[in-house]
Amino acid sequence: TKGKLLILPGDGIGTEVMREVRRVIDWYAKKRGVEFALEDGLAGGASIDAHGVPLTDATMALAQEADAVLLGAVGGPKWDSLPFAVKPERGLLRLRKELGLFANLRPAMCFDALVDASTLKPEIVRGLDILIVRELTGGVYFGTPRGIETLPDGSRRGVNTQVYTTEEIRRVARVAFDIAAKRGRKVTSSEKANVMESGILWREEVTWVHDHEFKDIELSHMYADNCAMQLVRNPKQFDVIVTDNLFGDILSDAAAMLTGSLGMLPSASLGAADAKGKRKAMYEPVHGSAPDIAGKDMANPIATLLSFSMALRYSFDLGTEADLLDKAVENVLAGGLRTGDIMQPGMAKVSTSVMGESIVRALDKL
Ligand code: NAI
Ligand code: MG
Repeated sequence: TKGKLLILPGDGIGTEVMREVRRVIDWYAKKRGVEFALEDGLAGGASIDAHGVPLTDATMALAQEADAVLLGAVGGPKWDSLPFAVKPERGLLRLRKELGLFANLRPAMCFDALVDASTLKPEIVRGLDILIVRELTGGVYFGTPRGIETLPDGSRRGVNTQVYTTEEIRRVARVAFDIAAKRGRKVTSSEKANVMESGILWREEVTWVHDHEFKDIELSHMYADNCAMQLVRNPKQFDVIVTDNLFGDILSDAAAMLTGSLGMLPSASLGAADAKGKRKAMYEPVHGSAPDIAGKDMANPIATLLSFSMALRYSFDLGTEADLLDKAVENVLAGGLRTGDIMQPGMAKVSTSVMGESIVRALDKL
């Protein structure tokens, strides 16, 4: 087999969209001879109901052994009133923490058929395919000192500290260059070196990794405020953008909206490379468990299918197979099929399962 894949459907629409992924996995096995050693497990509310905890040690062990974890979504009203320590989200946090996932990958792709759904002009987004690599475990969200202090005069101040070390910057830079090598071979590193010392270090260390390890990838630097502007003005100038936790949070949300619906957005989180260059990895749609439409066969499965496509490309080195899936999605959209979230005038509204079946049929025709 090509490696171990752990599937964690989770809750709500997570279980529905994951059924469509399994359809596609079956297709790869049958029609392309591409097989995975599949495991599955419970995560989030489903695991709380069965085992009393949002992720069991046994499932965590499966995740550690897997080449990639594919997660649906966790959470829902049923578990909202539980204390934070046993909430569904804690299952996700445990996975991210124990797998050491420090790089978050968020692509923004614009399918031709959905160009009109973008808030930007068609010529600005047509053919768009960029990826933001956000540092996920350092920076101002975690730096110390932090807190709200009361000053002698009774006024208060809130304190957070931006801290980045050489190693934290180098390891996320390596992810960005690795990924760029499998895409458009261009990295833009974004910080505010004009006003932040951590930004100066960021720029120096990304440059160091480039000059010592990835000379053949094109590297440029851009201040984060300018980057936000350029993302809206001319997003196609980018291939891979690498940036810190705070700027990445904002830039990736902005980039996501270049292309439309939550139901279309995949993501990946990667950890450190082992001796063979293999990284721990988890792939998941950006959306949540959507309780408002759960159980109704209405969810858009494309975000999760594209997350699986990212796993093919980045964890299993199956770029050609990933291209097939991306193309099948594009063709089905071009054929006019839409789930409710991406519905447009004159198009045909279909269910989760019909969307999945149609994508498999489109794969057959490629
Ligand atoms: P959500 O992403 O689940 O839903 C937001 C809105 O987008 C809803 O109207 C939903 O119907 C729609 N939507 C989302 N995905 C869609 C899809 N694939 N197809 C069609 N429509 C879709 O976010 P919300 O409502 O804030 O959270 C719902 C639950 O999900 C909560 O329990 C939350 O904690 C959890 N959640 C879990 C995440 C995860 O597992 N990574 C991420 C975000 C939220
Ligand atoms: Mg955000």
